[in-house]
Amino acid sequence: MLGLKLPTDPRWVNIVEKNIDEILTDHAYCEQKAASTAISLIVSFPEYSELVEEMIALSREEMGHFKMVHDRILARGEKLGRDRKDEYVVQLLKFFPKGGSRTTQLIHRLLYAGLIEARSCERFRLLSEQLEDKELADFYHKLMVSEASHYTMFLKFARKYGAIEEVNSKWQDLLIYEAEIMKNLGTSETIHG
Ligand SMILES: [Fe+2]
Ligand SMILES: [Fe+2]
Repeated sequence: MLGLKLPTDPRWVNIVEKNIDEILTDHAYCEQKAASTAISLIVSFPEYSELVEEMIALSREEMGHFKMVHDRILARGEKLGRDRKDEYVVQLLKFFPKGGSRTTQLIHRLLYAGLIEARSCERFRLLSEQLEDKELADFYHKLMVSEASHYTMFLKFARKYGAIEEVNSKWQDLLIYEAEIMKNLGTSETIHG
């Protein structure tokens, strides 16, 4: 699914289920960061008008997701906790060399964003299929559907603005690298952990 090389161990859902409050807080920040990523792409690459248009829409949609998760936290009588460090993202960033041309930097940021969307989508799908709480499972099903189109959008832009063969081979290398990171994850109640 989604080209990912290593599926998440379904036992991760059992860990999540023991601490729904924790996953919701972590998830809320994933949505906020997705919106922030969209905004920072606008600021860094304003001359790519088609990208800017899509990022405006995406930042709104991701903040809509943020609100959906935040509402859920409030409905549980809780408050949004502090942001958690995302070890997955820290590791993922190490794949990309610093510097390079402006186009190279754009391609890297698009592939990075696309991969996080793809993995999040895979995790949401797992939650939608395995959670005992059917209402929460349904919530994740809806999010899974929208995240799937985000991953393809980022890849589409990478292929549009970069040399297609180079982009495809970089994407494949990134998928292999990501699978290595994932071998040590799937053990905590966070969306990427
Ligand atoms: Fe989202
Ligand atoms: Fe997304």
